[in-house]
Formats: sequence, structure tokens, C-alpha cells
Amino acid sequence: MSEPVRRPLPFIGTAQVRHGARDRMTCLYRCGNACDHPVPNRSANEYLGDLVAGEVSRRGVMRGALVVGLAGAGVAAGAAPAFASPAGAASEPDVVVPEVDTFASKAPAPSQLTFKAVTPNQVDGIVVPNGYDHAVVIKWGDEVVPGAPRFNVAKQTAAAQSKQFGYNNDFVAVLPLDRRGERALLVVNHEYTNEDLMFPGFPGIDALSVEQLRVAMAAHGMSVVELERVGGSGRWTPVTRGSRRYNRRITALETRFKLTGPAAGSALLKTAADPGGKDVIGTLNNCAGGVTPWGTILSGEENFNQYFVGAETSTGAAKDRFNRYGIDTTNRYPSGSRKWDRADARFDLTKNPNEANRFGWVVEIDPFTPGSTPRKHTALGRVKHEGANVIIAKSGKAVAYMGDDERFDYLYKFVSDKKFDSGKSHFARRHNLTLLESGTLYVAKLGFTSAGEIDGSGKLPSDGAFNGTGTWIPLVKNGKSQVPGMTTEEVLVFTRLAGDAVGATKMDRPEDVEPNPKSGKIYVALTNNTQRGSSGKAPADEANPRTNNRHGHILEITENGGDHTGEAFTWTIPIVCGDPKDPATYFMGYDKNLVSPISCPDNVAFDGAGNLWISTDGNALGTNDGLFAVPLEGPEKGHLKQFLTVPYGAETCGPWIHADNKSAFVAVQHPGEITGASIEKPASNWPDGDFAKPGVAVAWRVDGRSIGV
Ligand code: FEO
Ligand code: CA
Ligand code: CA
Repeated sequence: MSEPVRRPLPFIGTAQVRHGARDRMTCLYRCGNACDHPVPNRSANEYLGDLVAGEVSRRGVMRGALVVGLAGAGVAAGAAPAFASPAGAASEPDVVVPEVDTFASKAPAPSQLTFKAVTPNQVDGIVVPNGYDHAVVIKWGDEVVPGAPRFNVAKQTAAAQSKQFGYNNDFVAVLPLDRRGERALLVVNHEYTNEDLMFPGFPGIDALSVEQLRVAMAAHGMSVVELERVGGSGRWTPVTRGSRRYNRRITALETRFKLTGPAAGSALLKTAADPGGKDVIGTLNNCAGGVTPWGTILSGEENFNQYFVGAETSTGAAKDRFNRYGIDTTNRYPSGSRKWDRADARFDLTKNPNEANRFGWVVEIDPFTPGSTPRKHTALGRVKHEGANVIIAKSGKAVAYMGDDERFDYLYKFVSDKKFDSGKSHFARRHNLTLLESGTLYVAKLGFTSAGEIDGSGKLPSDGAFNGTGTWIPLVKNGKSQVPGMTTEEVLVFTRLAGDAVGATKMDRPEDVEPNPKSGKIYVALTNNTQRGSSGKAPADEANPRTNNRHGHILEITENGGDHTGEAFTWTIPIVCGDPKDPATYFMGYDKNLVSPISCPDNVAFDGAGNLWISTDGNALGTNDGLFAVPLEGPEKGHLKQFLTVPYGAETCGPWIHADNKSAFVAVQHPGEITGASIEKPASNWPDGDFAKPGVAVAWRVDGRSIGV
């Protein structure tokens, strides 16, 4: 069943290829043609090339000294206050305590990776190594809410889509539901829609009916789906009988969210429909995410800017703020708009100027408590959040690492005020659900060891490493702004401007940022930045060492003393991506003849041995995107190998290595998204042989052993 379909590809479309190998159609629908817009970060904050590491750390110490008088105030130190219902509504259900506690830890696994690498290809199917099999778990239109109408592409309705699996799945998590390991919850983000590929006889975006626009809104958001294991194997499939009480859809159309944290209720978040500034309808462009140690899901609202129109009438500070978030203030790029304002006036900023401020957050959903109100946490700041991943520090505080996925934007971390309660009671879980509502928000500033040697070529400096020190600069601490001239609410709602003000380091599109549970080191996927070093833009530096960075790299952060709550760290670049034949690539010093080509790292995950798994978005080497695995320790460290490839035109998202290490889940996002394609003339026939549908797939070892080994 794993034999991929091999057929001539109808559209290669090289003329349409953009950064990476992404097609124009992907750029339009996913990011609103972000690359055509000016780089939003026009801040003059210094290039780190002229700041040495000692200066960085000294500044960090001074900054810390200024706020030391505030430290400790308001820290709950494990005390669990009465839980304020997130919805504030009488109907809010009490939390459900999950039966299995395997969210942060995976079964131990052998560290060696023995699978034979999949060769780069342009096959319109999923390709896995010999000895492995794969299957589609769920795809666009499949039933999620029991009783959902059967999918009919010719008769789509918003009501039906609100019960069916949404479009363009990205983040994937699979949470064990029972001790036998037979049931699990699949939680998936639906980042964006492509109306060209969704509606038969696509009439152009301006001619879509209001109902079709509402279908698109319902196809955004998230899905929670009960899964069961198939025949003791690593294969999983949706449960199709019984109550499936956990199954739910979260949409951009009608799901109610509660804002939490210091900016909730701020004037910046109030609208005519929500004078309290605490209730938002929907979530937008949910990209990556993370699973918390208390069993909830964090999901990043990323390219929310493209959903709004009307900012061209703004002036002054409002206009500057829109520009900094990539919200078009010129009306020069109307093709990027989804025209949702025709279906709902809240997407028209001339009528609802604050509505855009209500997106760009990290959202938390509790998949174990059916009917619970999802929340948007203002304490974690507002950027184009790729995702957020939590680790519990030695002190017990929850620390979330986050990236702002835009060229020249920043890395962030959040440290909770309160401490994680590892108890298994309702009381403990209610407490843990409040951890992300108050804490310290930091942005990263990196210092260098070889600044004078960085020439943009990717050549390793004479000390043998792209590496340095770094400082976490506090933006909000104890509920108080640490940024001169900005209030706490302004820092949290316009976090990019706060990062500019404190001189954060401009990075090459920080995507997933995830701590390795085995080592505590943090891994950052920096996907690419073809404007690095171009005229008027920040030049290459040691942390972003290539001019015209087409293939991206991985950054590794080690917190000083292993303290995730601290303000000082060191960093290094273990992997510089590209064709290993390219001298400007690096794989931890491993023999490059044995390494798979990799381009545009996007999402990362870890198996039970602490091996790093990387999925790619927009392979600039011209072949299909894939999932890769690489050991980070031992003699094989740096031996990066391609584990699978996804169908033509698709991006590999997720990924998720299951708790028992027996299954690798990936989201196949935007298969066949090639300019000129349509339902009638698909560029990919995955997964059913007709028109392309995004879906989640699982790969497992036929002999039942751990994957990768
Ligand atoms: Fe949705 Fe940053 O990729
Ligand atoms: Ca160095
Ligand atoms: Ca991504």
C-alpha cells in the first residue's frame, strides 16, 4: 500500500517558483504575498556585527539590575488560587484530568537511526524507507463532529465544514487517551485555505459567494479527533463509532475565545461587538504549536495580517503599527486579501480598527475538556506566532519558547510567575491552566565570537563554529513594562515594536522553537531569508551567516546553568542546510557525503532518544518537501537522513513522533498547490486519485519496532 503513485506531473511551473521552491499560489494564500511587501521590520536597531558578546552580557546584567527590586513580587510560588473560569460563564465545564501523563516524555528509544534515507524525488505520493508503511489518517472534509454531513465538494456549506476536517493541516499532536496505548487524541491546526483548489469552477476570489467565504472561515482553525490503533501496529485511524465526545472543530467562523493576561480588556482590544475587550470570535492562520506538560495544546496565530482590509485609511501611530505587522496600509496588494470583509465587517479595519489586535496570539485549548473555552494569552505577546513549546524549569516555572516567523524578526521566551503542579488532581490541572496568564516576556539578543570573520558565504570561522552568547531581554516583568515609552498593554499588543526598542537580534524567519526534553537544549528552525544581506537590510551575522539565505539553518540554544528561567545563554549553529555538496552547508562536522540534502527547515520534533526530526517547507533544491531525522549526540551526530517525502506541491508539517516511538505523523499541507491548478485540473491527485486534499498521514515500521532505528 505504500507504493507511491508515479505519474507525469502536469505543472512544474518553474516560472512561478518563489523563495524556497514555493509556488506563487502558496505565497498568495498562505502569507498574503508577504515577500512582495516591504520587510515589516524597518527598525534601526543595531546590527549585532558591531556589538561584541561582552557588551551584550554587560547590558543584560545592567538591565537585570534595574528591575531586581521588582523580582519576586507577585510570584505565587506554587500556591493555587481559586480558578477563574476562563470563559467567565456559568456553562464552563469543570476540567477533565487525562488518564495518561505522557505529554512531555516519550518512551526511551535507541539513539541510532538505521533507516535507509529516502532519495530526493518529485513523486506525487508519500515515500517512506524500505521496511516502513504509511496511510492517510484523515483528510479535508472527513467527519470530525459525529453526524457531520458526508463531504460533497460541489455542495459545500459552512455548516457542514464546521463539522468536517478543515483545510491545510499544519501542527499535529497525538495525545494518549488510555493506559493500554490503544486510543489517542489527534489535535491539528488548519492554517489557511486555498479557494482556487477548494471550489469547483472557481470564479475568482471577488466572485465567491458569501457562503463560500464562510466555508473558508469554517475550514480554518483546529480539529480534535479520537484515534484508535490498528491491529497493534503503528497505524492509527479515526474512531468511527460511539460518542466520540472529545471530537470538536474550532473555527475562524464562530468559536468563542477568551483573552487572558495583562492586556485582556485593554482599550486596544475593545471593539463595538466586544466592549469588554475579552471575547474574540475565531482563530486565524494557526501554524505550528506545542503540547504543554499539563496536557493542553498551544497554537500560534501566524499570518493574520492578510485577512484584514482598510488599513490604508490609517494615519500616525496606528499606521506604523499596522505596517510593523505587515497589514497593508497602501492598498497596493489587494490580491492578497481574502475578502472576508464581504462576509463579516470585523475584517474591515475602517469599521473595526482594533479587530486585528485580537489576532497574532498564542492560543491554548484543552482537548481533554469537551466544551471548554479556548483562550488567547496576551502575556505571551502578539507577533506572527509560529508556535510555542513549554518546558518546566528546575524551579517549577513553565517556560515557553516562541518564534516570530517573518524575515528579520525575533525569538521570544515566556517564564510563568506561578509554578507547575505535577499532581494529578482536578485542583492541580485547574491551577496549571492558569500558568500562561502571567509571567515575564523576553526577547533574544545574540552576541558573537567571530563577528569580524562573517562574510556572508557561510564559511565557518576560524574557531570552528558559528556560536556566541546571548541575553534574554525582559519586555514585561511582574505585569510591568520594561520598555521605556511603552505601557504594558502596548508591549503585549505591539510586541514587535517592543523588540525593536530594546535592540533584539534580527533572525532569518524563526519558525518552530522547541526544547529537547532529553537535553534541555532549545532548537530553532530558521527557515530562510533571501533578503539577508541585500541592499538596505541587515547583513549576514554569525547567527544568520549567509547572505541570500535560501536554505535556512538550525540554531541551538543552551541556557546558562541549564536554567530556563535565566537571562543568559549560549548558542551555536549545528546545521546549515542545503545540498551537502555546497561548501556553505554544515552538519555538526559529519561526513557530508553521507548526509541527505535538506532545505527550508520549518517544524521540529524529538523522539524518545532525543533525536531531532525536521520537516521542510519549500525545498529550494527543487524536489519534494520531506521529514528528516538527525542524532544530536554520539558518533552519529550530524548524520541527517531523509525519512519520508510528501506529494508534489505539498509542504511537510507536524511532525509528531508518538509517545511509544512507533509512529511518525506528518501533515501533508497544500498538495498540488501549483499556479494554474484547480479542482478540475489538479496538480496532485493525492490522496484519493482525484483532486488534491490536505490530510494527515502516519508512517510506521512494518516489523513493529521503533521508527528510525
Ligand atoms: Fe506557517 Fe511559519 O509557517
Ligand atoms: Ca564562532
Ligand atoms: Ca511553519
